Amino acid sequence: MRIDILTLFPDMFESPLSCSIIKRAQDSGLVEIALTDIRDFSTDNYRKVDDKPYGGGPGMVMMPGPVFDCFEHVRKLSDEKGRVILLTPQGQKFDQAKALELSNEKRLIFIAGKYEGFDERIRIGLGAEQISIGDYVLSGGELAAMVIIDAVVRLLDGALGDEDSAKDDSFSEGLLEYPQYTRPEVFRGMKVPEVLLSGDHAKIAEWRRRQALERTKKWRPDLLKEIEKREN
Ligand code: ADE
Repeated sequence: MRIDILTLFPDMFESPLSCSIIKRAQDSGLVEIALTDIRDFSTDNYRKVDDKPYGGGPGMVMMPGPVFDCFEHVRKLSDEKGRVILLTPQGQKFDQAKALELSNEKRLIFIAGKYEGFDERIRIGLGAEQISIGDYVLSGGELAAMVIIDAVVRLLDGALGDEDSAKDDSFSEGLLEYPQYTRPEVFRGMKVPEVLLSGDHAKIAEWRRRQALERTKKWRPDLLKEIEKREN
């Protein structure tokens, strides 16, 4: 997979992209991630990339010119056209199903904007889909892009050490994950559930399934409603 990120703040990505699973996935060639600074495509002496909104109102809006020029430069960096994603609170809400869908693409191009928003012609002209990571407003799309990239890259075949470990994740079947325990067997008076020490794999699987269901019912009943909707 190739991931391109168009941003005004490439430095923000440095640390998240150079740690842990994302770093390993890049080092082993599973994914190539390239950052491009939109400001390099400003035609203005002051490297201006935003302006006041027509019709008045507060804040500044990303101008279409630098974003289009930057995008056209980036698109040519690979033969694969890619899927173009604009980060905005107006977008479709990101979830595990979307992460899985994106993990099957050969190329993703993220456009992260600061300020109050994008000139509408950016979305229309670039044929971009809009994604939001939740119903709150961030000061820019950068953190949203990082969240999505993290969720997507860990799903690439071979990104996780243990091939199975993404399968039981919370949400992978629409349920929260079952509780996990490791050594010691007793910690500050709290014991590991007996069934996990039993060695009876069928019983353990059954216990985990029940725990996952119970926790989902208690903490995220909205997820169970989603499953019911899907099954009916
Ligand atoms: N940019 C600002 N807020 C955002 C959000 N919630 N999701 C995606 N991009 C954003």
